[in-house]
Amino acid sequence: MKIANLIAPLAAATLLAACGSEPELRDRNAAPMIDGQSIYATEEGRDTHSHANPLEARVTHVSLDLNADFEERRMVGSATLDLDVAEDGEEVVLDSKDLEIREVVNGEGEALRWEMGEDSGDVHGAPLTITLDGAEQVKITYASAPGAAALQWLEPEQTEGGEEPFLFSQGQAILNRSWIPTQDSPGIRQTWDARITAPEGIRVVMSAEMLTPEGELIDGQPGRRAFRFRMDEPIAPYLIAIAAGDLAFQELGDRSGVYAEPSMLAAAASEFEDIEEMISAAEELYGEYRWGRYDLLVLPSAFPFGGMENPRLTFVTPTILAGDKSLVSLVAHELAHSWSGNLVTNASWDDFWLNEGFTVYFENRIMEAVYGREQAEMLADLGWADMMEDVEAVGGLTSEDTRLHLDLDGRDPDDGMTNIAYEKGAVFLRTIEETVGRARFDAWLRDYFDRNAFQPQTSAGLIADMRANLFEGDEAEEIGLEAWIYEPGLPENAVHVQSNRFRAVDQAIANFAESGEVTVINWPEWTTQERLRFLNGLPRELADDRLDALDEAFSLNAARNSEIRFAWLKLAIANRYDAARDSTEAFLLSMGRRKFVAPLFEALMAEGQWGQPFARRVYREARPRYHAITTGTVDETVPLSDG
Ligand code: BES
Ligand code: ZN
Repeated sequence: MKIANLIAPLAAATLLAACGSEPELRDRNAAPMIDGQSIYATEEGRDTHSHANPLEARVTHVSLDLNADFEERRMVGSATLDLDVAEDGEEVVLDSKDLEIREVVNGEGEALRWEMGEDSGDVHGAPLTITLDGAEQVKITYASAPGAAALQWLEPEQTEGGEEPFLFSQGQAILNRSWIPTQDSPGIRQTWDARITAPEGIRVVMSAEMLTPEGELIDGQPGRRAFRFRMDEPIAPYLIAIAAGDLAFQELGDRSGVYAEPSMLAAAASEFEDIEEMISAAEELYGEYRWGRYDLLVLPSAFPFGGMENPRLTFVTPTILAGDKSLVSLVAHELAHSWSGNLVTNASWDDFWLNEGFTVYFENRIMEAVYGREQAEMLADLGWADMMEDVEAVGGLTSEDTRLHLDLDGRDPDDGMTNIAYEKGAVFLRTIEETVGRARFDAWLRDYFDRNAFQPQTSAGLIADMRANLFEGDEAEEIGLEAWIYEPGLPENAVHVQSNRFRAVDQAIANFAESGEVTVINWPEWTTQERLRFLNGLPRELADDRLDALDEAFSLNAARNSEIRFAWLKLAIANRYDAARDSTEAFLLSMGRRKFVAPLFEALMAEGQWGQPFARRVYREARPRYHAITTGTVDETVPLSDG
């Protein structure tokens, strides 16, 4: 059935493309080409983090039929893959990590030979090679491991409601191979569908069209429901995502809504009430939203990231529910990925900046359109500081890790996920914007998304596109295009957006540093962004009486805004401020967002006897609640083995 669904429109599209009359209707499931050559054969289009052999056989569609087994913590069932096989293609190589393969058959149900290669022992996993014998479809019966890296199975106690267990997945960068045997490479786009069964009382949601919102009864299986999903747009496989638990839904607009546990739904709906305005602003800037619905899912507090741009269903941490919409730039960010990242996708993790740098730039434009220029400038200026912090962290401006285009061969793609990709990437685009003017830049970017929609992209491809379609005269040389992308450091022409409102904040910092009087601080009138500028800009060394004064005046130990709390605790820990210990412990036990958890443990470990035993005690208690992504990072700073 799904094949019939796919073939008709594709055949028509190919025909039209061949006539040249409707270029935008080209075959979106065709192998991606760049300059007349397959992108997979190019230097930058080769993905060293996947075992896939797309030039020989390429997965074009994934059909999942899985039971979510909460007792065993496994996904059990089958994945049926449609393949585009080259004329002389003999085998297909898939990615897998800790999968238990039970059987592999072709479209007719006949057994096929398969072999699981050696596991690298790290994040890359093992190649699963299937001998095709002419097959263009393979069905793999399998189960994921109880510790699958992409999945987190939560006990009821780890949810707000406390009644039902919860499951969620996180695919980016290369984790989905731990629950889906497919070619797990961002350049190999796949349409997909799924049927997932779960115990009664659990709602299953996925990053796709939800065909059965309430689920369906299953013959002969009382106590379980089946949920069906379909994604007809070809997406990068890291974007296949699932969550399951006691989830309620509230509409926000015509094409948007929010899923959350019932006790959090009202708070979430009011926090995200501007979402329709954001979507319209984004469309106004860079063209039609191509994914139909835009829903948000608020996860339990163990979710290791701030947000994840799963198509049609952005996943977000509950730590952005500040109560005053002050942290919604994160939603603008994930929404922007509907263009940069999901429509035009980095072909390999070496070009992660193409996803994130473009998205931070776009996020800021959405924020400007919806909340005004001052707000956007403050956010951009905070981003600059984040960038500088990570430049220091990777060893300064001469470090190879300050390049936009990276060479992560043999490394965990996670290593490249620093604020350099995000913020230097965005600063680069702002610098281009300033050089060519906003009108020309916006027109180019809108066309760029259209031209490259549903395609992978590389730095080389971007440069070619910019040279052909954006720059005039010697603008590219003036900007230093290649140096920006391929060389370390920060070129001199980098545009640093500086917020005027921060000048007053910086003055308050200076005044407080001198006098110690909290009366010089205009806290109640400040936005969250000004407060963050203040806390991050204070001298790193502060005496206890100064910290006391700040806490007393602004209740920082009890701050409910997670970003404020985090900024405060970093400062407090660096000063071995005893009165912040309880607050630190409570915060670290309340959520598992890596961005907060990892730096706080690192700060504690830097404080010798004052911080280390405390860090170990708290981590021992918190660790079982954290996602593998978070423990993977914290394990390196807080060794627990010594007891
Ligand atoms: N796509 C990222 C999250 C991600 C990156 C997951 C790399 C796995 C590997 C997402 O869009 C993101 O950037 N989230 C940020 C928030 C954002 C506002 C900067 C986060 O989670 O902190
Ligand atoms: Zn992002």
